[in-house]
Amino acid sequence: MKLTPWFKSFLAFVSLAAATVAPAALKIGFAQTGAESAWRTANSDSMKAEAAKRGIDLKFSDGQGKQENQIRALRSFIAQKVDAVVLAPLVETGWDPVLRDAKRAGIPVIITDRSIVTTDETLYACFIGSDFFEEGRMAAEWLAKKTGGTGRIVELQGTPGSAPANERRKAFAEGIASHPGLKIIDSQSGDFRRAGGKEVMEALLKKHGKSIEIVYAHNDDMALGAIQAIEEAGLKPGTDIVIVSIDAVREGVQAVVAGKINCTVECNPLFGPKVYDTVAKLLAGQKVERKSFNKDELFDATNAGAALPTRQY
Ligand code: AHR
Repeated sequence: MKLTPWFKSFLAFVSLAAATVAPAALKIGFAQTGAESAWRTANSDSMKAEAAKRGIDLKFSDGQGKQENQIRALRSFIAQKVDAVVLAPLVETGWDPVLRDAKRAGIPVIITDRSIVTTDETLYACFIGSDFFEEGRMAAEWLAKKTGGTGRIVELQGTPGSAPANERRKAFAEGIASHPGLKIIDSQSGDFRRAGGKEVMEALLKKHGKSIEIVYAHNDDMALGAIQAIEEAGLKPGTDIVIVSIDAVREGVQAVVAGKINCTVECNPLFGPKVYDTVAKLLAGQKVERKSFNKDELFDATNAGAALPTRQY
């Protein structure tokens, strides 16, 4: 058949158009716990910024500190047929039914930040997070050295039932167990919030007065709230009361430089690049690490000043 010049150019146009049609953007649903702390904001920002950089269509849901909101978000991601789901679980238990739904729909789930307890490990593809045990252990080790192994401690716990609260609590208790002079005299939850840390510290100061020598806070936001309560009670945080904390967000490291927090163990929230690299591998059918952890540092008076200018969060 003889092709007219017009038909030839039409064919050329069609094949060029077919070659240049952009592939559909990857659709990923991210169920975040909420916005309880500076750490959490940095974590959400990392996930959003990296998605934008890679042209990923990110469906972001803020669980507002409620597990039922996160479960609802997961169900909606499944209904929207996303390519993958990323879950930062508020608490450790209660995820199996919705994870089963995702598995049935053939949608891989990546657990990030906090681990879960499940009866079926095949319900999620992998875990990318922080080693909360190691963080609690590092805090205890630093404290034992700093105090020579004595002191009355109050503990400000994170969200009840969450992996960081459970694991940081357990590891710290184990870490000080060989120092019988270090005693936890009280332990209450401030829900990882600054207001919670302040409120709990006020109540603890009323109850125990000046007998409190050490605060172990499960995150910087609660430590910063406790500092306010300590100052309002006419005491000097970091001097009258030793403060050990976790996260090393910029304001926490600043407080170390100011001498108000004595030590903060890092918990790196910048998971975006690693999470999306992992999603890409999973969708390409490649093997991924079952569990991977960020490596964390510790900041005290010896290194906080030098670290501050380059803190990313
Ligand atoms: O799961 C990580 C913890 O959650 C962070 O230490 C805390 O700041 C956050 O709210």
